[in-house]
Amino acid sequence: MNETTTPELNSDDLATELSLRPTTFAQYIGQDKVKEQMQIFIQAAKQREEALDHVLLFGPPGLGKTTMAFVIANELGVNIRQTSGPAIEKAGDLVAILNELEPGDVLFIDEIHRLPMNVEEVLYSAMEDFYIDIMLGSGDGSRSVHLDLPPFTLVGATTRAGMLSNPLRARFGISAHMEYYDTTSLEEIVKRTADIFDTEIIPSGAHEIALRSRGTPRIANRLLKRVRDYAQIKGNGSIDRDITDAALKILDVDSEGLDVTDQKILRTMIDLYNGGPVGLSTIAVAIAEDPETLEDMYEPYLVQQGFIIRTKQGRKVTEKAYTHLGIAHQGELL
Ligand SMILES: Nc1ncnc2c1ncn2[C@@H]1O[C@H](COP(=O)(O)OP(=O)(O)OP(=O)(O)O)[C@@H](O)[C@H]1O
Ligand SMILES: [Mg+2]
Repeated sequence: MNETTTPELNSDDLATELSLRPTTFAQYIGQDKVKEQMQIFIQAAKQREEALDHVLLFGPPGLGKTTMAFVIANELGVNIRQTSGPAIEKAGDLVAILNELEPGDVLFIDEIHRLPMNVEEVLYSAMEDFYIDIMLGSGDGSRSVHLDLPPFTLVGATTRAGMLSNPLRARFGISAHMEYYDTTSLEEIVKRTADIFDTEIIPSGAHEIALRSRGTPRIANRLLKRVRDYAQIKGNGSIDRDITDAALKILDVDSEGLDVTDQKILRTMIDLYNGGPVGLSTIAVAIAEDPETLEDMYEPYLVQQGFIIRTKQGRKVTEKAYTHLGIAHQGELL
């Protein structure tokens, strides 16, 4: 399977993620708006003894969409079945999954924008009226079979809301946009993780890691793991600002939290395309990255932080990018 939303996850990361995943709203740090609305909708559905309305979660990778799906199921007190768009190849695969659901269960479909069209079409009636019509056999002998389903909650996650078809999007009663985390929330996440790791961290260390995590819990946890290694070998095991700074230098994570790829994107735009405007696919080819990865993982943060802007003609780097990289430029910039 071609996992485009998490190309940077190795098995080590995966094991860590599973052990660090919050399971309740109380443990889930940040995303206050999403949490608040979800808590109300969940409570109301439970009171009425109904399945929760279908939920669409969207936002960049590593912000906690999968975690949120599991928290929702846990708070509802129901089972969760997890799959992903690319993993469901045929309508029959989906029918098999739907057929196993118990009333009120959560079906979590990650990367839902990558569902094949014929599968998506089966989902429409399943979501709207909890039934599916399946064709059995082919040619003259074929017949349609009507299958009623228990009421269930579909939780879909996507890095790209724009890539969802309108009929599918319209069938989600709840739609939640996951935001990049602020520094305070990331500090809390780092402290919580350090606690689970039994690692001593002082506030200045947690603050520094938070600042350099691109607003993303997954990155915060990963940086913390590497800084912890560094502190153990080069220091006394405790994480402070200086140890963090030294460790992140080795990891090529700069003062703004930009990694090697982020920097390569900006430098390529400046060196080869005079700062833009340049198309995303052109940049992707120049730095030998997959355009989807570039668009999902790297660009949103660079745009959010004001290093890149999107224009009708293409992407352009900003004054802030030149200043950050210490590159002089001529003429007016944004
Ligand atoms: N709110 C949070 N509080 C604490 N830790 C969190 C939070 N959100 C995410 N994390 C941590 O970040 C990791 C990544 O989160 P998760 O896998 O849910 O992201 P995702 O949005 O599904 O990413 P992707 O789009 O790549 O699938 C989790 O394992 C967890 O350790
Ligand atoms: Mg996920």
